[in-house]
Amino acid sequence: MPDRIYLDHASGSPLRPEALDAMTAYLHAHGGNPSSLHREGKEALNALENARRTVADILAASPTEVTFTSGGTESVNTAIKGVALAEWQAGTGNHIITTEAEHQATLNSCRYLERFGFEVTYLPVDRFGLITPADVAAAITPRTVLVSVMYANNEVGSVLPIAEIARAVREQERALDRRIALHTDAVQAPGMVSADMASLGVDLLSLSAHKFGGPEGVGALAIRRATPFLPLMDGGVQERRRRAGTENVAGAIGMATALALAEAERPRTAPRLRRLRDRLIDGIASSLPSAQLNGPRMERLSNNVNFSFPGVDGESLLMALDRQGIAASAGSACAHVTWEPSHVLLAMGRTLEEASGALRLSLGRATTDAEIDAALAIVPRVVRELASTRA
Ligand SMILES: Cc1ncc(COP(=O)(O)O)c(C=O)c1O
Repeated sequence: MPDRIYLDHASGSPLRPEALDAMTAYLHAHGGNPSSLHREGKEALNALENARRTVADILAASPTEVTFTSGGTESVNTAIKGVALAEWQAGTGNHIITTEAEHQATLNSCRYLERFGFEVTYLPVDRFGLITPADVAAAITPRTVLVSVMYANNEVGSVLPIAEIARAVREQERALDRRIALHTDAVQAPGMVSADMASLGVDLLSLSAHKFGGPEGVGALAIRRATPFLPLMDGGVQERRRRAGTENVAGAIGMATALALAEAERPRTAPRLRRLRDRLIDGIASSLPSAQLNGPRMERLSNNVNFSFPGVDGESLLMALDRQGIAASAGSACAHVTWEPSHVLLAMGRTLEEASGALRLSLGRATTDAEIDAALAIVPRVVRELASTRA
């Protein structure tokens, strides 16, 4: 049996050796600031622009549309506040549409804007964590400036119909004869589903490197040309004035290297993970009949498994699994500090008890059949033990 079984890739996937090598090679050779005019500066700028081209190609965007950030949270904040403030300045509207099941980065950016007079519609999700394009279309008003809907849910793995939502938004744009920007939080997408902005039809798209084998502390925000936008960070002219501050060149290199690999491997990796995911889902469901699968069966990320175990405390379950060698999560890692029941599960209609007894197992590129066998031997036993001590 493997020593440790890491099933928390949705929180953070280990740095890929290729990304580490590319970053180390740059850092060893590195001398300059990409804004400097000397040779060392130009070399740094070259490396940064190569990384930007790689990311842009994968997103089907132009390199001038890609801005490097410090991660998913910054990308999402910048997208939402950047568009909202530009539209506020232009006097075009103050209404934003999002969903109740978004990551806290989106929900709290929207709540922040509400303090300054923005109105936000939080669309309810169905019991699988999904919304329909018609839900979005029906919420659009003549004051709507931004729609922000996540591509794939980090807790329950639901994959939302972004391309169809984009078509519904464009139709409303034509009917109202005004622009509505569409942002998608695609942090959980790379390596699992295509993050091609052109096919998705979005204006803004957020990524975070550590979710696909890049380093922590770096992400990207792609912003289509002509999208109304004000930067959050004021200072120098870096990143075409969209994000001031000296760039994290090594981070951008690591991110681009990991993204290129994740996307190149996707045709082989995603079906393999889907098979392992289904084995894990079916195995847990058949040994624990009271277990409730959270999220859809079909429109689901290839690496996501999420169950509620009624009568079992989620925190105790995580601790017990950790002692047995399994690294898992109760939903989103960020919720752990406060240990609140998942807002996503509550939005999907789960009870407080069901939401408090949830377990997310998220697979990654390196997950093996042997690890799934081991997880299937451990998880049902630990759940049964905890349920019996509580009963
Ligand atoms: C869907 C989603 N959005 C945003 C974030 C925030 O990304 P970061 O941790 O890079 O700030 C995460 C991280 O868990 C996420 O899963």
